[in-house]
Amino acid sequence: MTMTTLQACNLVLFGALGDLSRRKLLPALYQLDRAGLLHADTEIIGMARDSLDDQSFRQVMLENFQRFVSKDDLADQQALERFCARVHYIGTDLTKVEGYLPLAERLQQSGRTSVCYLATPPGIFGAICECLQGSGAINSDTRIVLEKPLGKDLASSKVINDQVARFFQESQIYRIDHYLGKETVQNLIALRFANNLFGSQWNQNHIDHVQITVAEEVGAEGRWSYYDKSGQMRDMVQNHLLQLLCLIAMDPPSELSADSIRDEKLKVLRALKPITADRLSQQVVRGQYVAGNIQGKAVPGYLEEDGANPHSTTETFVAIKAEIANWRWAGVPFYLRTGKRMPTKWSEIIIHFKQQPHYIFAPEQRNLASNKLIIRLQPDEGISLQVATKDQGLDKGMRLRSGPLSLNFSEAFHQDRIPDAYERLLLEVLQGNQALFVRRDEVEYAWKWVDTIIKGWDELNEPPKKYQAGTWGPVSSIALISRDGRAWHEDA
Ligand code: BG6
Repeated sequence: MTMTTLQACNLVLFGALGDLSRRKLLPALYQLDRAGLLHADTEIIGMARDSLDDQSFRQVMLENFQRFVSKDDLADQQALERFCARVHYIGTDLTKVEGYLPLAERLQQSGRTSVCYLATPPGIFGAICECLQGSGAINSDTRIVLEKPLGKDLASSKVINDQVARFFQESQIYRIDHYLGKETVQNLIALRFANNLFGSQWNQNHIDHVQITVAEEVGAEGRWSYYDKSGQMRDMVQNHLLQLLCLIAMDPPSELSADSIRDEKLKVLRALKPITADRLSQQVVRGQYVAGNIQGKAVPGYLEEDGANPHSTTETFVAIKAEIANWRWAGVPFYLRTGKRMPTKWSEIIIHFKQQPHYIFAPEQRNLASNKLIIRLQPDEGISLQVATKDQGLDKGMRLRSGPLSLNFSEAFHQDRIPDAYERLLLEVLQGNQALFVRRDEVEYAWKWVDTIIKGWDELNEPPKKYQAGTWGPVSSIALISRDGRAWHEDA
């Protein structure tokens, strides 16, 4: 998260023709170049199975830019030409060492630090590392970036981590969780640790509960068979939601260094109370969408999507009441909720503060007199604090009104665009800063907690609860929070 002098690097993109590279990584690198954040000598080398030459790879990339980069951002012909000139391509079977020899030669000759970004299925991470080593393409300065999914449980994640650890030290490994690159997520750190107003209140004496909602409008369409093997728990909770929870719940790190932050996040993961089969009905709801309407458009159910197995019991929605067993958070539930095919794409963290110990206003307005800090991740990144004030007007007496003190990032800072998470993360890798990347022990503790829930589901063997596409999930997810006398934010 620091700005250091730009360093010239070789960035080798494995899986350069894959979905992630086309949609996110190459557009993000282009944006960094436009913003003057790539060193003049930095080179990008795409690697994938198809045999293309540099020119035709650039052509494919530019065609994708038409879809994934805005027209305005593509208007700068000079920037496009400069970017294209940095981009090269090597077509080879990524699991055969012979194909790596031209890469090794190129990297050795340049003498620059190399960054190898594995945007491939994790099944070949081990083989890629072995080929990199066998061809002499890497050295002790090489950085390696790993995309999720890092396994489907603790055991498989250990296998992947072990394979990579044969060739790279932990200090060389950058595990991506793209939520950590989102502007508002990083702002959480600034908000919590640069403002005594919040720092002093951030504990069970002042906070009643926390809600984290990551709602998606999209379904599993287009990648049904991939998604069906993971489901929302593995795809979203194990990584993104638990990382958000850690950033909210962690103790202040002693400094902004990668390991200070990651040590504190790890303590939170270790303090999460396991949710075993006997607690599932009270603390976890698992759902699957059926056909419905989103923004006036009819959409099919999960089991009716193209390529679907009509008997699948994979969940597309999860709601969890998580508890953290430590002094700061004892008795403060963290309600997590994430699902596909919800009414809209909408992600928010809401910190509900406790009410004042003594209340003096009209009894029916009591619920207006509690503060909520709303941290909006997407869309319209921003932060707002709900405060109670007096309603204006001679006829209003001392009636309360709840309103926001709010900060919309793009309006407040006159930014036309908020950088995509991958821009931030790529920049951090190029600068060699691991703070926004997930350490091996974090991944493994997150799996340990998630595995207990999944094991409980397997034991109970109950199908997921149905919810209509375009709604906020199964009715039982409302019961999960209303049992405690609380409500999800949009119901409040
Ligand atoms: C990915 C998941 O990690 O995050 C997808 O695999 C999900 O299933 C995506 O749609 C959501 O990311 P964002 O940034 O659009 O909220």
